[in-house]
Amino acid sequence: MMNHSQPQGADYNYTVVRQFALTTVLWGIVGMSVGVLIAAQLIWPQLNFDTPWLTYSRLRPLHTNAVIFAFGTSALFATSYYIVQRTCQTKLFAPRLAAFTFWGWQAVILSAVITLPLGITSGKEYAELEWPIDILITIVWLSYGAVFFGTIVKRTTSHIYVANWFFGAFIITVAVLHIVNSMAVPVSMWKSYSIYSGAVDAMVQWWYGHNAVGFLLTAGFLGMMYYFVPKQAGRPVYSYRLSIVHFWALIALYIWAGPHHLHYTALPDWTQSLGMAMSLILFAPSWGGMINGIMTLSGAWHKLRTDPVLRFLVVSLSFYGMSTFEGPMMAIKTVNALSHYTDWTIGHVHSGALGWVAMVSIGSLYHLIPVLFGHGRMYSIKLINVHFWLATIGTVLYIVSMWISGVMQGLMWRAVNADGTLTYSFVESVEASYPFYFVRFIGGCFFLTGMFIMAFNVIKTVRAKESMPALAEA
Ligand code: HEM
Ligand code: HEM
Repeated sequence: MMNHSQPQGADYNYTVVRQFALTTVLWGIVGMSVGVLIAAQLIWPQLNFDTPWLTYSRLRPLHTNAVIFAFGTSALFATSYYIVQRTCQTKLFAPRLAAFTFWGWQAVILSAVITLPLGITSGKEYAELEWPIDILITIVWLSYGAVFFGTIVKRTTSHIYVANWFFGAFIITVAVLHIVNSMAVPVSMWKSYSIYSGAVDAMVQWWYGHNAVGFLLTAGFLGMMYYFVPKQAGRPVYSYRLSIVHFWALIALYIWAGPHHLHYTALPDWTQSLGMAMSLILFAPSWGGMINGIMTLSGAWHKLRTDPVLRFLVVSLSFYGMSTFEGPMMAIKTVNALSHYTDWTIGHVHSGALGWVAMVSIGSLYHLIPVLFGHGRMYSIKLINVHFWLATIGTVLYIVSMWISGVMQGLMWRAVNADGTLTYSFVESVEASYPFYFVRFIGGCFFLTGMFIMAFNVIKTVRAKESMPALAEA
């Protein structure tokens, strides 16, 4: 797989990796705390304290931006900078530019934290930030691309390890998506209008939205998976050939699937059907990745009994498999007629977001942080185990409650009496959802508690003076 006979720890640029790794934990706590707060507001609306910047409408985009672009993307920055150096056996290209990407990205995050609660928004989901921040994002992202690909170019190894293929595709595609979808005409410092309108706007927006899922929340994290699963399991990747085949299939298919977000809308019907067909086929390469990750454990299954870090990684792959089975099903038009607008979508989102994205990042960080700070392992393995159970139970509570409330809402909305009138009013469906909102809130509290435990464990590890023995020796 990879040969570590050349540069060792001291020869790599770990500063920027350390910075991004630590801020991942910090932003994870911030983003998920906002998630728990909005989950609570859906049960107790008075929690907005009649304060405009604490209202659900302003905090919801703060949550999505914080978890995706602050937590998730920081994890991707940290791991890609680490992996590209280790697998290319060379230091990061342009260290100053790399440092700029860290501070630039923090500036983007802080701008989001300030502007979104103030109600400054472009109104495009997952692309809410206004034009001056969009320009900053573009500059930081192009710098990220320069550092990453510059490092690949100056590699001392002959081949490019598969994790880098995934990271490379993620970096290029996110740049294209962001630039095209953010095209806007500014009318003042904090207000702009998209250059697209009507159905074209919707199409471009969900081409962006779905490929943000495909390339940021999927391809990037698969890059992470392809390094840390083999490392933690101490086994080579199950099939290098499968990794290349499912890489190209994933890239070729994702880009067409966006219209499944716009079923039964003003979009031309054939585009909706194309989106549905591509989503169904997408199941195959998605499971190719999952199977490749899980089968990497062949011969190392026994390690799951003692290694909670490996458990995080394997369970994340199971959730990846689950959400990429569910997604194609929800893309079928008749299924979508039931699931759309309901909490089923929210359940699907969080089985991907908590189960896959957050858990693979957490597992990878538990592997990475001791290496970055010169220790054999994390301060407490027991606390990693506690975190694992809190995260797993929290995720299951969240998604199961949303599945039930989602299907219930869908069925209530379409129920009709013999005379053709609706059986339930909308408010009745909201009332019926409360118990499930409460279970989701509890699930969120579990997950967030785990993040605080992680922060404690990370602080203790970073501060430890002596190196702790590696897990196998412990
Ligand atoms: C403690 C953990 C979390 C809690 C309690 C939580 C809670 C919530 C709530 C209450 C909503 C709004 C649902 C609605 O409008 O009906 C939401 C939306 C969302 N969350 Fe989370 N969340 C958590 C973690 C995460 C993470 C880690 C991610 C991503 C990595 C994430 C991504 C999203 C996305 C993308 C949406 C928008 C979904 C949509 O519009 O369909 N969340 N979350
Ligand atoms: C083969 C893979 C997948 C397919 C075909 C797929 C398909 C779908 C479909 C059909 C919807 C519902 C659209 C609607 O009715 O509005 C949806 C929503 C969503 N999915 Fe997936 N999904 C996949 C994997 C994932 C993964 C792995 C994640 C996260 C890591 C994810 C994140 C989301 C988000 C955030 C939304 C909500 C978007 C919004 O309305 O705000 N999906 N997906």
